[in-house]
Amino acid sequence: MLREMEGGLTARDRVGLQDFVLLENYTSESAFLDNIRKRFHENLIYTYIGTLLVSVNPYKELSIYTKKQMDVYMGVNFFELPPHIFALADNVYRTMLSETNNHFILISGESGAGKTEACKKVLQFYAVSCPSTRVLDNVRDRLLLSNPVLEAFGNAKTLKNDNSSRFGKYMDIQFDHKGGAVGGHILSYLLEKSRVVHQNHGERNFHIFYQLVEGGDEELLRWLGLERNCQKYRYLVRGECAKVSSISDKSDWKTVQKAFTVIDFSEKDVEDLLAIIASVLHLGNVYFDKNIRGYAALNNSMEVHWLSKLLGIPTQTLQQGLTHRKIEARSEEVLSPFTPDHAKCARDALAKAIYGRTFNWLVGKINESLVNKDSTRKTVIGLIDIYGFEVFQVNSFEQFCINYCNEKLQQLFIQLTLKSEQEEYETEGVEWEPVPYFNNKIICELVEAKHRGIISVLDEECLRPGEATDLTFLEKLEETLSGHPHFLTHKLADPKTRKTLDRGDFRLIHYAGEVTYSVQGFLDKNNDLLYRNIKEVMRQSTNHIIKLCFPVNEPDTKRRPETVATQFKSSLAGLADILMSKEPWYVRCIKPNDGKQSGRFDDVLVRHQVKYLGLMEHLRVRRAGFAYRRRYEVFLQRYKPLCPDTWPNWRGTAAEGVAKLVKHLGYQRDEYKMGKTKIFIRHARTLFATEDAFDVCKHQLATRIQAKYKGYRVKGDYLKQREAATKIENCWRGLMARKEKERRAWAVKVIKKFIKGFMTRNQPLSVDNSEYLAFVRHNYLMRLKDNLPKTVLDRHNWLTPPPIMKEASHLLRKIFTRNIVRKYVKGMTAQRKAQLQLKGLTSALFRGKKENYPCSVGRPFADTRINEQDINIKVLQTLNLEGVKYSVPVVKYDRNGFRPRFRQMIFTQVAAYLVEEGRVKQRMEYAQLKGISVSNLSDNFLIFHVICDAPVKQKGDVVLQCDYLFEALTKLCVVMNRRSIISIVQGSVRFDIYPGREGFVDFKSGPESMVYRGKNGHLMVESAKTKVR
Ligand SMILES: Nc1ncnc2c1ncn2[C@@H]1O[C@H](COP(=O)(O)OP(=O)(O)OP(=O)(O)O)[C@@H](O)[C@H]1O
Ligand SMILES: [Mg+2]
Repeated sequence: MLREMEGGLTARDRVGLQDFVLLENYTSESAFLDNIRKRFHENLIYTYIGTLLVSVNPYKELSIYTKKQMDVYMGVNFFELPPHIFALADNVYRTMLSETNNHFILISGESGAGKTEACKKVLQFYAVSCPSTRVLDNVRDRLLLSNPVLEAFGNAKTLKNDNSSRFGKYMDIQFDHKGGAVGGHILSYLLEKSRVVHQNHGERNFHIFYQLVEGGDEELLRWLGLERNCQKYRYLVRGECAKVSSISDKSDWKTVQKAFTVIDFSEKDVEDLLAIIASVLHLGNVYFDKNIRGYAALNNSMEVHWLSKLLGIPTQTLQQGLTHRKIEARSEEVLSPFTPDHAKCARDALAKAIYGRTFNWLVGKINESLVNKDSTRKTVIGLIDIYGFEVFQVNSFEQFCINYCNEKLQQLFIQLTLKSEQEEYETEGVEWEPVPYFNNKIICELVEAKHRGIISVLDEECLRPGEATDLTFLEKLEETLSGHPHFLTHKLADPKTRKTLDRGDFRLIHYAGEVTYSVQGFLDKNNDLLYRNIKEVMRQSTNHIIKLCFPVNEPDTKRRPETVATQFKSSLAGLADILMSKEPWYVRCIKPNDGKQSGRFDDVLVRHQVKYLGLMEHLRVRRAGFAYRRRYEVFLQRYKPLCPDTWPNWRGTAAEGVAKLVKHLGYQRDEYKMGKTKIFIRHARTLFATEDAFDVCKHQLATRIQAKYKGYRVKGDYLKQREAATKIENCWRGLMARKEKERRAWAVKVIKKFIKGFMTRNQPLSVDNSEYLAFVRHNYLMRLKDNLPKTVLDRHNWLTPPPIMKEASHLLRKIFTRNIVRKYVKGMTAQRKAQLQLKGLTSALFRGKKENYPCSVGRPFADTRINEQDINIKVLQTLNLEGVKYSVPVVKYDRNGFRPRFRQMIFTQVAAYLVEEGRVKQRMEYAQLKGISVSNLSDNFLIFHVICDAPVKQKGDVVLQCDYLFEALTKLCVVMNRRSIISIVQGSVRFDIYPGREGFVDFKSGPESMVYRGKNGHLMVESAKTKVR
């Protein structure tokens, strides 16, 4: 459906009518012309008459022959797309395949109308659309490349066409049952040989001559004895236009050379072929002198020398052949010399014969390369590119033949079309209605009838002994044909018509129009005489092509060969036979103007062609019964949207569907007939109404379908994406699951190993526990690394090792401790060291002995507790003599009454002093110190015991309280160098108030610290229990 819509007709395509059959006023030539003109101006060069294709030469490149276009037309119904040569080619091909029968496409039209181009387009279409294999491609290339070769040898520039085919061509393409092109065959008709020796003004000889001279490389030309200058060759300059801007001889030469290799020409073939082409050029330059007797003479001519070389014929023999003819006088053969004029004629005849026969050889050779080697049954499509009807100012033998050919083809068309039309009605079971048309059988017979036909009369005149001339031939015609409705001469015409005829003319009323022929040259051209002896000369040639062209067993000698007209007649009869057995298709080419211009439409010219191409006739035949017919399926498929019952799908047979559809559309009974497989519609207007309705409906449908399609596309995209997402998800999940599985398997293994390792951890090292133990070791060491003691004091905090690490841990710990201590020690100052030594001493003295000792540990010792400036200057001066070591504030309790007094205690090198302001209250020489008592409790009391028995008046022992008790006592021990001086006592200490009187200090613990005089007269020192840290 979509494809159909795509191919649907655009507004532009609908300019005019695509099919003339639908022309309401189908008998009007003007209406016909209007339609064709309208379309031409829109570059719509193709229009149908039913299945016949009318093509107007656009004279410009149109972009309608691309590969894309070919694809569009491949396998699509004929009427679904705008008319095109591809549509026709495709339809022929598909019909051939489905019906397994043979077809031909007759391409006709006047010179320059585009026949050869159309033929090429069809070939190109098959080259692209047919199946391709290596073998088939080879055949395809040969089919395509045979064209340039044939065109080089058979085409020429004429006034009407720069690439005019000067021969008729029928080409078979053979297809196997799969539709592959497997072979081909070419038949050529009536090459215009006269062109070899003569061209009208503005025309050229066959392309190959110019291609060789312009394109052949130097060496080749030298070998052929040619110069690169067309002007040097008489046969090339008759028309005085050797150079034409639209033709590139050089590049065409390259194409031809390449083509030779593809179509299997050996080097020898090409060599001999070119030798012949060069020979013809040399032959044209052969010049005949007059000898003394007035006969033709060749005096050491260079041309003859080259001819002799190229054709491999002895010069002598050649010279004689060119200047004499053999006459049989009784049983003797005599050589009769030519006059120079006669010799020229014979020379030209030879040139024509050589070229004509070589052309036939060429066609034969191409056929050899195209031959299908497989002998299974083939179907065939024939392409006929044949000259169209020709009418010139002066029409000669050639036009006569050409127009006769066209009459024959028209006859064939009538027979085939009417036959098929009638057959169609019959097979479809529709009543046959006779068609009024002009049958040109009578004209064909006028030309070809035995004994009475023009050709017979001409032959008779040619063969007749005695003086036969063109005029005697005309007289014979008048005798034989007088009264024939299609034949006129000056003598036979009525006075009025007579004025339009010369005495040497005859006129034929062809189906396509009147043509007046001049009889001049008819006899000669029909005879196409070549003297026997020159043929014999040719037979001696060593050139293998010439040898083949002039065979020894040629049926000549006594019997005259068939005349040209008769040969042509029989070849046409042969062609008619070939075609009659095939299904016909037609392409009628029209030339829009005589100037090869694009965009110009010459009404008179086109009207003329429409007439003699028999297009009106054809249309009439097609329209005689029903204007339009279509297979039920096709009709239903196209118009089913117009009826609710048939849209969107019809379930019954196509015929029933169509019946329903036309009933719905309101067709009248006499407007249509239902055949077996087709519907026949009588008038075009009925179809137009349907088509218009369809057009309206199509737009609505298109919108709906578009919307549906868009929705469908979007949904499709969505579904696709969803599917893709699910797929990706599945894959991802799968991947993850696999990974997880692997991970778990790994974990199980690891855990198992771990457990086993754990269970066997205390056994000797083995496979089972080695990893576990390594892990344990590693783990312990790593933990240990993070949990090492931070300070020296912290060193007892050591991570408990697992059993296997006990020894290692022990060693590590030792190393670590040593290390940390060393580090600590290294980082210590001398001052600190001295301090610690003092502390060590303190510890030795008091640790575990006095309760408040622990409190002192953390308090650093100072050098002294009283600044020098706080000591009375006089005291200081006196004591400095002894060297002051330490001073500390103390509280001194009076010996009587135990009143506390603040004093400074200063240690010198020799004595301890108690100082109050500027006075030394008591000096205690170390030598006289008995001892120092402190309690074991947490008070800060110390009692200095002095020796009192000296004569010096002594003050007795001293009871002191000092906040820096430990510091002061340690310093004193150091100064005195006597540790034993200190005694730690419990309970109560006895002291001498003065010699002979004792006092006591009682120490005890209490809830809080206090000092008072006890009722017993003792100094009571209560100290609060210090909390042990
Ligand atoms: N379909 C086309 N598109 C473009 N140009 C075209 C087309 N058909 C023909 N021509 C032009 O018209 C010229 C003549 O066409 P072509 O040779 O096919 O004519 P012809 O009918 O074969 O003539 P003749 O009878 O002389 O051989 C071509 O060389 C080309 O320039
Ligand atoms: Mg042509």
